Amino acid sequence: MTSSASDIRSVIVGTGGYLPAEVLDNDAVAQRYGLDTSDEWIVERTGIRQRHLAAAGETTGDMGAAAAREALAQAGIDVSEVDAIIVATATPDSAFPSTAARVQAKLGVTRGFAFDISAACTGFVYALSVADSMLRAGQARCALVIGSEVFTRLLDWTDRSTCVLFGDGAGAVVMRAVPTDTAEGRGVLSCHLHADGTHGDILSVDPASRMVRMTGREVFRHAVSKLASVVDEALAANGLDKADVSWLVPHQANQRIIDAMGRKLGLPPERVVTTVGRHANTSAASIPLALAEATRDGRIKPGELVLMEAIGGGLTWGAALARF
Ligand code: COA
Repeated sequence: MTSSASDIRSVIVGTGGYLPAEVLDNDAVAQRYGLDTSDEWIVERTGIRQRHLAAAGETTGDMGAAAAREALAQAGIDVSEVDAIIVATATPDSAFPSTAARVQAKLGVTRGFAFDISAACTGFVYALSVADSMLRAGQARCALVIGSEVFTRLLDWTDRSTCVLFGDGAGAVVMRAVPTDTAEGRGVLSCHLHADGTHGDILSVDPASRMVRMTGREVFRHAVSKLASVVDEALAANGLDKADVSWLVPHQANQRIIDAMGRKLGLPPERVVTTVGRHANTSAASIPLALAEATRDGRIKPGELVLMEAIGGGLTWGAALARF
């Protein structure tokens, strides 16, 4: 069964999130790992106050499945309807089976397809884009799009400039193929993906040590300019103005980058969904976790226009516009 792109909209009908139980604030991180840092330094430069840490034995698949269950419950959709599972992660449980196939097994799904996407902190925007294309092309009818990360297992806990920035968690959305004429304007409007591998070395996992290495200042510089440009691209592609955006749901890496994007869009801080202070940077999980929080507490309402944007290792970056 196939449909032309114009017949079908992919609509986000449910969101879910999962955060591991253990929470470490900045002072506790400094103390546990013997770091020469301070809560004041970390909060001032990044906005981060605490992060969640996965328990020993808790996997990317476990967390992704937990977030997916909440998303399905919120959507009121039975797991038997799911025919596509896409997991964005930089911390897969194994090269194969994919984390998506592991999530599929944990949920008891035996039909459809499942695969992972690797685009670091931009992973969720990439996965959303792939799911949107596949739903509109008629290759699936009900997709789970998940970002799940045990990022703290990639950290060099002796490197104070990176280890304080990240945390663990998972978020998920359920997307449904809906005929355009009954979608009431809801659904993904467009996704805009970019990569420039020539900047790969400023944020990478060192193949020898398997640990994250980052030139923070360079990443910061690219983030502000590339996110500003991809947001303009997304609005222009839909003939929309920044005043049309109801909510900015950005990747949660750094409060200063988030604030800069909010200012660029002319959005007051209460229209920007922000979790970085409590979650730190959960990489591909940060946008779906923020979506889950802001739909659960009633901030994002049906019919509202949500702008998502992210940048991460690759370099990769992108944006998506969706009407909830
Ligand atoms: N505590 C105390 N001091 C620290 C520190 C910490 N946790 N981490 C770094 N420093 C020190 C450095 O050693 C350096 O000291 P020096 O001047 O004596 O050499 C000083 O702070 C400044 O370091 P620098 O890296 O230039 O700081 P910065 O102002 O760029 O802030 C980041 C560092 C990481 C907070 C900032 O660059 C950043 O947020 N970058 C973007 C990172 C990001 O979001 N990555 C993920 C994208 S998906």
